[in-house]
Amino acid sequence: GHLWLVVPAAGQGRRMGADRPKQYLPLAGQPVLARTLARLHEAFPEARLCLCLDPDDGHFDPAWVPFADWRRAPGGAERVDSVVSALEAIAPDAAEDDLVLVHDVARPCVTVDDLVRLLSAIADDPVGGLLAARAADTMKRDDGAGRVRTTESREGLWHALTPQGFRYGLLRRALGEALAAGVAVTDEASAVEAAGHSPRLVSGRRDNLKITHPEDLILAELVLSAQEL
Ligand code: C5P
Repeated sequence: GHLWLVVPAAGQGRRMGADRPKQYLPLAGQPVLARTLARLHEAFPEARLCLCLDPDDGHFDPAWVPFADWRRAPGGAERVDSVVSALEAIAPDAAEDDLVLVHDVARPCVTVDDLVRLLSAIADDPVGGLLAARAADTMKRDDGAGRVRTTESREGLWHALTPQGFRYGLLRRALGEALAAGVAVTDEASAVEAAGHSPRLVSGRRDNLKITHPEDLILAELVLSAQEL
């Protein structure tokens, strides 16, 4: 089967407070989007890409796409809507059991090693899985008024990262059912879980950070320069 990469890049990035969506801000001299696609291409040069873009996007340049086989899909209101739109856009060419890796455009620091390890961990898995990192901090739950109610055990807690990879048919059905049922879908795995499956946790690097706030761009530049050493 084919390997598909779905990259949601239709967010506005409002928490960044910049003059354009964060995927178009420069990161070590190149737009975040170009860096993310370059990492994915280094790991999977033969994969097919579907890029979710805001239909009114005025910043995108196709010269940033290194893949030979790629298409764009119109982004939706939420991240999940963008992913569903991409799965619809590839429907004519995707087989039920093709693997789909969904990766946030805002995670340009994912390493080739993590990408390849994720793929090999889920290649023969009936469900699929995600890159994730064990929680390192002590976790507090608040009382809704700015004070600690409880300290939660961090035993067994993970941060969900991307990519998250699942079979095309399973993922499309799971996302559709979760949306219809009103389940909050903040990542692909949560929809697959709601469908009764247990995605595999593949331990990934903690520096696969998601650029969200202005200081994250500085951190990401440091991560990239350290990875190049
Ligand atoms: O805003 P946040 O970083 O949580 O978004 C995660 C990813 O989902 C980003 O890559 C963003 O571009 C994408 N997204 C999207 N469509 C939306 C909202 C977010 O493709 N409507």
